[in-house]
Amino acid sequence: MSKVKVGIIGSQFEADIHAASFQIMPEEAEVVAVASPTAGHAEDLARRYGIPRVFRDYRDMLAEPDIELVTITAPNALHRQMTCDAARAGKHVVCEKPMAMTLAEADEMIDACQRAGVLLLYAEELFFTPKYVKAKEMADQGAFGKVHLVKQSEKHFGPHSAWFWDVERSGGGVWMDMGCHGIAFCYWFLGRPKIESVYCQMGTYVHRDKTAGEDEVIGILEFAGGALGVVENSWARRGGMDDRIEVYGDAGVTYGNLHMGNALPTYSERGYGYAVEKAPSTSGWSYPVFEELWNYGFPQEMRHFARCVRGKDSPQATGQDGRVVLEALCAGYASAGRASKVALPFACPGWQKPIDGWRRA
Ligand SMILES: NC(=O)c1ccc[n+]([C@@H]2O[C@H](COP(=O)([O-])OP(=O)(O)OC[C@H]3O[C@@H](n4cnc5c(N)ncnc54)[C@H](O)[C@@H]3O)[C@@H](O)[C@H]2O)c1
Repeated sequence: MSKVKVGIIGSQFEADIHAASFQIMPEEAEVVAVASPTAGHAEDLARRYGIPRVFRDYRDMLAEPDIELVTITAPNALHRQMTCDAARAGKHVVCEKPMAMTLAEADEMIDACQRAGVLLLYAEELFFTPKYVKAKEMADQGAFGKVHLVKQSEKHFGPHSAWFWDVERSGGGVWMDMGCHGIAFCYWFLGRPKIESVYCQMGTYVHRDKTAGEDEVIGILEFAGGALGVVENSWARRGGMDDRIEVYGDAGVTYGNLHMGNALPTYSERGYGYAVEKAPSTSGWSYPVFEELWNYGFPQEMRHFARCVRGKDSPQATGQDGRVVLEALCAGYASAGRASKVALPFACPGWQKPIDGWRRA
Protein backbone atom coordinates (compact mmCIF):
# COMPACT_ATOMS: atom_id res chain seq x y z
CA MET A 1 0.00 0.00 0.00
CA SER A 2 1.22 3.50 -0.79
CA LYS A 3 2.33 5.90 1.88
CA VAL A 4 -0.36 8.08 3.44
CA LYS A 5 -0.17 11.59 2.00
CA VAL A 6 -0.19 14.19 4.75
CA GLY A 7 -0.87 17.93 4.79
CA ILE A 8 0.16 19.99 7.81
CA ILE A 9 -1.79 23.08 8.89
CA GLY A 10 0.58 25.50 10.63
CA SER A 11 4.31 25.93 10.15
CA GLN A 12 5.89 26.76 13.48
CA PHE A 13 6.72 24.84 16.64
CA GLU A 14 4.44 21.81 16.51
CA ALA A 15 4.31 21.75 12.71
CA ASP A 16 8.07 21.32 12.76
CA ILE A 17 7.69 18.42 15.18
CA HIS A 18 5.10 16.74 12.94
CA ALA A 19 7.25 17.20 9.82
CA ALA A 20 10.36 15.91 11.61
CA SER A 21 8.43 12.98 13.07
CA PHE A 22 7.14 11.81 9.70
CA GLN A 23 10.72 12.05 8.45
CA ILE A 24 12.14 10.06 11.38
CA MET A 25 9.68 7.20 10.72
CA PRO A 26 9.04 7.58 6.99
CA GLU A 27 7.76 4.13 6.05
CA GLU A 28 4.01 4.78 6.52
CA ALA A 29 3.50 8.39 5.45
CA GLU A 30 4.93 11.37 3.61
CA VAL A 31 4.22 15.05 4.11
CA VAL A 32 3.23 16.47 0.74
CA ALA A 33 1.89 19.89 1.72
CA VAL A 34 1.93 22.58 4.36
CA ALA A 35 -0.43 25.53 4.83
CA SER A 36 0.21 28.60 6.93
CA PRO A 37 -0.94 32.21 6.51
CA THR A 38 2.25 34.15 7.30
CA ALA A 39 4.31 34.91 4.22
CA GLY A 40 7.46 32.80 4.05
CA HIS A 41 6.76 30.56 7.05
CA ALA A 42 5.28 27.59 5.21
CA GLU A 43 8.02 27.96 2.60
CA ASP A 44 10.67 27.73 5.33
CA LEU A 45 9.20 24.54 6.74
CA ALA A 46 8.80 23.12 3.23
CA ARG A 47 12.45 23.88 2.46
CA ARG A 48 13.72 22.25 5.64
CA TYR A 49 11.76 19.04 5.14
CA GLY A 50 11.48 18.81 1.36
CA ILE A 51 7.70 19.32 1.35
CA PRO A 52 6.63 19.92 -2.26
CA ARG A 53 3.43 21.96 -1.93
CA VAL A 54 2.87 25.18 0.02
CA PHE A 55 -0.40 27.02 0.68
CA ARG A 56 -1.31 30.28 2.40
CA ASP A 57 -4.92 29.24 2.99
CA TYR A 58 -5.43 25.79 4.47
CA ARG A 59 -8.75 25.46 2.63
CA ASP A 60 -6.86 25.41 -0.67
CA MET A 61 -4.75 22.58 0.71
CA LEU A 62 -7.92 20.70 1.67
CA ALA A 63 -9.00 20.85 -1.99
CA GLU A 64 -5.99 18.71 -3.02
CA PRO A 65 -7.55 15.35 -3.84
CA ASP A 66 -4.55 13.15 -2.98
CA ILE A 67 -4.12 14.39 0.60
CA GLU A 68 -5.60 11.82 2.97
CA LEU A 69 -4.58 13.01 6.41
CA VAL A 70 -4.37 16.55 7.74
CA THR A 71 -2.57 17.45 10.95
CA ILE A 72 -3.67 20.61 12.76
CA THR A 73 -0.93 22.54 14.53
CA ALA A 74 -2.67 25.90 14.78
CA PRO A 75 -3.76 27.80 17.93
CA ASN A 76 -6.45 26.10 20.02
CA ALA A 77 -9.24 28.51 19.04
CA LEU A 78 -8.91 27.36 15.41
CA HIS A 79 -9.10 23.59 16.01
CA ARG A 80 -12.86 23.31 15.62
CA GLN A 81 -13.16 25.16 12.34
CA MET A 82 -10.15 23.41 10.82
CA THR A 83 -11.27 19.96 11.92
CA CYS A 84 -14.78 20.43 10.56
CA ASP A 85 -13.46 21.85 7.27
CA ALA A 86 -11.02 18.95 6.89
CA ALA A 87 -13.73 16.40 7.65
CA ARG A 88 -16.07 17.98 5.10
CA ALA A 89 -13.24 17.73 2.56
CA GLY A 90 -13.02 13.99 3.32
CA LYS A 91 -9.66 14.13 5.09
CA HIS A 92 -8.71 12.18 8.19
CA VAL A 93 -7.74 14.57 10.98
CA VAL A 94 -4.99 14.69 13.57
CA CYS A 95 -5.89 17.47 15.98
CA GLU A 96 -3.30 18.77 18.42
CA LYS A 97 -4.04 19.08 22.11
CA PRO A 98 -6.07 20.52 23.77
CA MET A 99 -8.91 19.52 21.53
CA ALA A 100 -11.10 22.64 21.49
CA MET A 101 -12.33 25.71 23.35
CA THR A 102 -15.66 24.26 24.52
CA LEU A 103 -17.33 20.89 24.93
CA ALA A 104 -19.88 21.93 22.29
CA GLU A 105 -17.00 22.47 19.87
CA ALA A 106 -15.54 19.06 20.72
CA ASP A 107 -18.93 17.43 20.12
CA GLU A 108 -19.23 19.21 16.78
CA MET A 109 -15.78 17.98 15.73
CA ILE A 110 -16.53 14.38 16.69
CA ASP A 111 -19.86 14.56 14.92
CA ALA A 112 -18.40 16.13 11.75
CA CYS A 113 -15.76 13.41 11.47
CA GLN A 114 -18.25 10.65 12.16
CA ARG A 115 -20.62 11.96 9.53
CA ALA A 116 -17.83 12.32 6.98
CA GLY A 117 -16.54 8.83 7.77
CA VAL A 118 -13.05 10.09 8.62
CA LEU A 119 -10.89 9.47 11.66
CA LEU A 120 -10.48 12.11 14.34
CA LEU A 121 -7.14 11.36 15.97
CA TYR A 122 -6.16 13.27 19.11
CA ALA A 123 -2.50 14.14 19.26
CA GLU A 124 -1.50 13.13 22.79
CA GLU A 125 2.07 11.96 22.45
CA LEU A 126 2.33 10.77 26.06
CA PHE A 127 0.37 7.69 24.94
CA PHE A 128 3.42 6.91 22.78
CA THR A 129 6.30 8.13 24.98
CA PRO A 130 8.56 5.07 25.17
CA LYS A 131 9.45 5.44 28.86
CA TYR A 132 5.81 5.95 29.85
CA VAL A 133 4.61 3.14 27.58
CA LYS A 134 7.08 0.86 29.37
CA ALA A 135 5.70 1.95 32.76
CA LYS A 136 2.16 1.18 31.57
CA GLU A 137 3.19 -2.21 30.21
CA MET A 138 4.71 -3.05 33.61
CA ALA A 139 1.57 -1.84 35.39
CA ASP A 140 -0.62 -3.93 33.09
CA GLN A 141 1.57 -6.96 33.86
CA GLY A 142 0.89 -6.42 37.57
CA ALA A 143 4.31 -5.06 38.53
CA PHE A 144 2.85 -2.55 40.98
CA GLY A 145 -0.19 -4.52 42.15
CA LYS A 146 -3.35 -2.44 42.25
CA VAL A 147 -2.37 1.07 41.19
CA HIS A 148 -4.04 3.69 43.38
CA LEU A 149 -2.06 6.84 42.55
CA VAL A 150 -0.65 8.16 39.28
CA LYS A 151 1.10 11.50 38.99
CA GLN A 152 2.18 13.41 35.92
CA SER A 153 3.77 16.81 35.86
CA GLU A 154 4.98 19.05 33.08
CA LYS A 155 6.67 22.38 33.73
CA HIS A 156 8.67 25.11 32.03
CA PHE A 157 8.87 28.90 32.14
CA GLY A 158 6.11 29.57 29.66
CA PRO A 159 5.29 29.07 26.00
CA HIS A 160 7.07 30.36 22.94
CA SER A 161 4.23 32.14 21.06
CA ALA A 162 2.09 35.13 21.99
CA TRP A 163 -1.23 33.39 21.37
CA PHE A 164 -0.70 30.93 24.28
CA TRP A 165 -0.72 33.88 26.71
CA ASP A 166 -3.94 35.29 25.24
CA VAL A 167 -6.74 33.30 26.84
CA GLU A 168 -9.14 34.28 24.05
CA ARG A 169 -7.02 32.26 21.62
CA SER A 170 -5.70 29.57 23.97
CA GLY A 171 -8.70 29.03 26.25
CA GLY A 172 -6.67 29.19 29.44
CA GLY A 173 -3.22 29.12 30.97
CA VAL A 174 -1.00 26.22 31.91
CA TRP A 175 -3.85 23.91 32.96
CA MET A 176 -5.28 24.18 29.44
CA ASP A 177 -1.86 23.96 27.79
CA MET A 178 -0.20 21.19 29.79
CA GLY A 179 -2.82 19.94 32.24
CA CYS A 180 -4.36 18.30 29.19
CA HIS A 181 -1.28 16.04 29.01
CA GLY A 182 -1.47 15.09 32.68
CA ILE A 183 -5.21 14.35 32.62
CA ALA A 184 -4.80 12.27 29.46
CA PHE A 185 -1.85 10.45 30.95
CA CYS A 186 -3.58 9.43 34.20
CA TYR A 187 -6.75 8.43 32.34
CA TRP A 188 -4.83 6.33 29.79
CA PHE A 189 -2.44 4.83 32.33
CA LEU A 190 -5.30 3.58 34.53
CA GLY A 191 -7.10 2.02 31.54
CA ARG A 192 -9.57 4.84 30.86
CA PRO A 193 -11.84 4.57 33.94
CA LYS A 194 -14.49 7.23 34.33
CA ILE A 195 -13.24 10.47 35.90
CA GLU A 196 -15.54 11.07 38.86
CA SER A 197 -14.30 14.40 40.16
CA VAL A 198 -11.69 17.10 39.70
CA TYR A 199 -10.24 19.44 42.31
CA CYS A 200 -7.88 22.23 41.28
CA GLN A 201 -5.87 24.93 42.96
CA MET A 202 -4.43 27.49 40.56
CA GLY A 203 -3.04 31.00 40.39
CA THR A 204 -1.00 33.49 38.39
CA TYR A 205 2.17 34.01 40.37
CA VAL A 206 4.92 35.07 37.96
CA HIS A 207 3.43 36.20 34.65
CA ARG A 208 0.65 38.61 35.66
CA ASP A 209 2.08 41.19 33.26
CA LYS A 210 1.68 38.77 30.35
CA THR A 211 -1.51 36.82 30.81
CA ALA A 212 -4.87 36.45 32.47
CA GLY A 213 -4.15 32.73 32.50
CA GLU A 214 -2.86 30.70 35.44
CA ASP A 215 0.83 29.86 35.58
CA GLU A 216 0.75 27.31 38.43
CA VAL A 217 -1.79 24.55 38.99
CA ILE A 218 -2.26 21.40 40.98
CA GLY A 219 -5.14 19.16 39.96
CA ILE A 220 -6.46 16.06 41.69
CA LEU A 221 -8.63 13.61 39.78
CA GLU A 222 -10.72 10.82 41.31
CA PHE A 223 -11.26 7.83 39.05
CA ALA A 224 -13.95 5.17 39.18
CA GLY A 225 -12.44 2.08 40.77
CA GLY A 226 -10.68 4.05 43.45
CA ALA A 227 -7.52 5.51 41.94
CA LEU A 228 -6.25 9.07 42.21
CA GLY A 229 -4.50 11.15 39.58
CA VAL A 230 -2.37 14.14 40.52
CA VAL A 231 -1.45 16.60 37.78
CA GLU A 232 1.01 19.41 38.40
CA ASN A 233 1.81 22.07 35.83
CA SER A 234 3.83 25.24 35.75
CA TRP A 235 4.67 28.05 33.37
CA ALA A 236 6.81 29.50 36.15
CA ARG A 237 9.53 26.86 36.41
CA ARG A 238 12.95 28.07 35.37
CA GLY A 239 15.47 25.86 33.61
CA GLY A 240 13.71 24.39 30.58
CA MET A 241 11.23 21.57 30.21
CA ASP A 242 10.55 19.11 33.01
CA ASP A 243 8.24 16.13 32.50
CA ARG A 244 7.85 13.30 34.96
CA ILE A 245 5.57 10.60 36.28
CA GLU A 246 5.13 8.60 39.46
CA VAL A 247 3.07 5.42 39.79
CA TYR A 248 2.12 3.87 43.12
CA GLY A 249 0.42 0.52 43.72
CA ASP A 250 0.05 -1.84 46.67
CA ALA A 251 2.90 -3.99 45.32
CA GLY A 252 5.29 -1.49 43.80
CA VAL A 253 6.22 1.93 42.54
CA THR A 254 7.98 3.45 39.56
CA TYR A 255 9.29 6.92 38.74
CA GLY A 256 9.90 8.31 35.29
CA ASN A 257 11.73 11.50 34.47
CA LEU A 258 11.56 12.12 30.76
CA HIS A 259 14.36 14.64 30.45
CA MET A 260 16.85 14.16 33.27
CA GLY A 261 16.50 10.39 33.03
CA ASN A 262 17.63 10.44 29.41
CA ALA A 263 20.12 13.26 29.70
CA LEU A 264 23.85 13.73 30.05
CA PRO A 265 24.42 15.73 33.24
CA THR A 266 26.75 18.37 31.85
CA TYR A 267 28.77 21.32 33.06
CA SER A 268 30.12 23.74 30.42
CA GLU A 269 31.81 27.13 30.90
CA ARG A 270 31.33 27.96 27.22
CA GLY A 271 27.94 26.52 26.38
CA TYR A 272 27.04 24.59 23.25
CA GLY A 273 24.24 24.35 20.69
CA TYR A 274 21.09 22.89 22.24
CA ALA A 275 20.19 21.19 25.50
CA VAL A 276 16.45 20.63 25.71
CA GLU A 277 13.17 22.30 24.83
CA LYS A 278 12.89 25.79 26.35
CA ALA A 279 16.24 25.65 28.19
CA PRO A 280 17.36 29.29 28.42
CA SER A 281 21.12 28.59 28.13
CA THR A 282 23.66 25.82 27.80
CA SER A 283 26.41 27.25 29.99
CA GLY A 284 26.89 26.11 33.58
CA TRP A 285 25.01 22.96 34.49
CA SER A 286 22.63 21.60 31.86
CA TYR A 287 20.99 18.32 30.91
CA PRO A 288 21.14 17.85 27.15
CA VAL A 289 18.77 15.24 25.79
CA PHE A 290 19.36 13.09 22.74
CA GLU A 291 16.76 11.86 20.23
CA GLU A 292 14.35 14.33 21.83
CA LEU A 293 11.37 13.71 19.56
CA TRP A 294 11.80 9.94 19.81
CA ASN A 295 11.90 10.10 23.60
CA TYR A 296 8.67 12.12 23.59
CA GLY A 297 7.01 9.60 21.26
CA PHE A 298 6.08 11.98 18.43
CA PRO A 299 7.40 9.86 15.52
CA GLN A 300 5.75 6.75 16.97
CA GLU A 301 2.49 8.72 17.37
CA MET A 302 2.48 9.99 13.76
CA ARG A 303 3.38 6.54 12.42
CA HIS A 304 0.49 5.05 14.41
CA PHE A 305 -1.91 7.65 13.02
CA ALA A 306 -0.80 6.88 9.46
CA ARG A 307 -1.29 3.17 10.12
CA CYS A 308 -4.81 3.93 11.40
CA VAL A 309 -5.60 5.61 8.08
CA ARG A 310 -4.52 2.42 6.28
CA GLY A 311 -6.51 0.25 8.72
CA LYS A 312 -3.32 -1.38 10.02
CA ASP A 313 -3.82 -0.12 13.61
CA SER A 314 -6.93 0.77 15.55
CA PRO A 315 -6.82 4.33 16.92
CA GLN A 316 -5.26 4.61 20.39
CA ALA A 317 -5.90 8.35 20.79
CA THR A 318 -9.20 9.68 19.51
CA GLY A 319 -11.51 12.65 19.59
CA GLN A 320 -13.33 10.89 22.45
CA ASP A 321 -10.13 10.98 24.51
CA GLY A 322 -9.76 14.65 23.67
CA ARG A 323 -13.31 15.31 24.83
CA VAL A 324 -12.83 13.45 28.13
CA VAL A 325 -9.72 15.54 28.76
CA LEU A 326 -11.50 18.78 27.85
CA GLU A 327 -14.37 17.99 30.22
CA ALA A 328 -11.87 17.46 33.05
CA LEU A 329 -10.09 20.71 32.11
CA CYS A 330 -13.38 22.61 32.32
CA ALA A 331 -14.25 20.95 35.62
CA GLY A 332 -10.79 21.89 36.91
CA TYR A 333 -11.31 25.57 36.13
CA ALA A 334 -14.76 25.44 37.72
CA SER A 335 -13.24 23.79 40.79
CA ALA A 336 -10.61 26.52 41.15
CA GLY A 337 -13.35 29.14 40.71
CA ARG A 338 -15.62 27.57 43.33
CA ALA A 339 -12.79 26.43 45.62
CA SER A 340 -14.40 23.00 45.80
CA LYS A 341 -14.33 19.57 44.22
CA VAL A 342 -16.39 19.31 41.02
CA ALA A 343 -18.18 16.10 40.05
CA LEU A 344 -18.33 14.75 36.50
CA PRO A 345 -20.15 14.55 34.12
CA PHE A 346 -19.70 18.30 33.90
CA ALA A 347 -21.47 20.62 31.47
CA CYS A 348 -20.68 24.26 30.96
CA PRO A 349 -23.22 25.72 28.56
CA GLY A 350 -22.62 29.33 27.67
CA TRP A 351 -18.89 29.25 28.37
CA GLN A 352 -16.70 30.65 25.61
CA LYS A 353 -13.56 28.94 26.89
CA PRO A 354 -12.45 26.71 29.77
CA ILE A 355 -10.85 29.45 31.87
CA ASP A 356 -14.26 31.17 32.12
CA GLY A 357 -14.96 28.65 34.90
CA TRP A 358 -12.23 30.19 37.03
CA ARG A 359 -12.01 33.85 36.02
CA ARG A 360 -15.74 34.48 35.99
CA ALA A 361 -16.60 32.49 39.10
N1 LIG B 1 1.69 17.85 21.72
C1 LIG B 1 2.47 18.77 22.24
O1 LIG B 1 3.25 18.51 23.12
C2 LIG B 1 2.36 20.17 21.72
C3 LIG B 1 3.46 21.03 21.84
C4 LIG B 1 3.32 22.34 21.34
C5 LIG B 1 2.12 22.75 20.80
N2 LIG B 1 1.08 21.89 20.73
C6 LIG B 1 -0.22 22.32 20.19
O2 LIG B 1 -0.07 22.59 18.81
C7 LIG B 1 -0.86 23.70 18.42
C8 LIG B 1 0.07 24.76 17.80
O3 LIG B 1 1.02 25.16 18.76
P1 LIG B 1 2.47 25.69 18.32
O4 LIG B 1 3.33 25.58 19.51
O5 LIG B 1 2.89 25.05 17.05
O6 LIG B 1 2.13 27.23 18.05
P2 LIG B 1 2.96 28.21 17.12
O7 LIG B 1 2.57 29.57 17.52
O8 LIG B 1 4.41 27.84 17.17
O9 LIG B 1 2.43 27.91 15.65
C9 LIG B 1 1.08 28.14 15.33
C10 LIG B 1 0.94 28.01 13.83
O10 LIG B 1 -0.44 28.13 13.48
C11 LIG B 1 -0.49 28.91 12.31
N3 LIG B 1 -1.79 29.50 12.07
C12 LIG B 1 -2.39 30.50 12.73
N4 LIG B 1 -3.55 30.80 12.13
C13 LIG B 1 -3.68 29.96 11.08
C14 LIG B 1 -4.64 29.78 10.07
N5 LIG B 1 -5.75 30.53 10.03
N6 LIG B 1 -4.42 28.84 9.11
C15 LIG B 1 -3.32 28.07 9.15
N7 LIG B 1 -2.37 28.20 10.09
C16 LIG B 1 -2.55 29.12 11.04
C17 LIG B 1 0.58 29.96 12.52
O11 LIG B 1 0.88 30.61 11.32
C18 LIG B 1 1.70 29.07 13.05
O12 LIG B 1 2.37 28.48 11.97
C19 LIG B 1 -1.57 24.17 19.68
O13 LIG B 1 -2.85 23.62 19.74
C20 LIG B 1 -0.71 23.62 20.81
O14 LIG B 1 -1.40 23.38 21.99
C21 LIG B 1 1.18 20.62 21.16
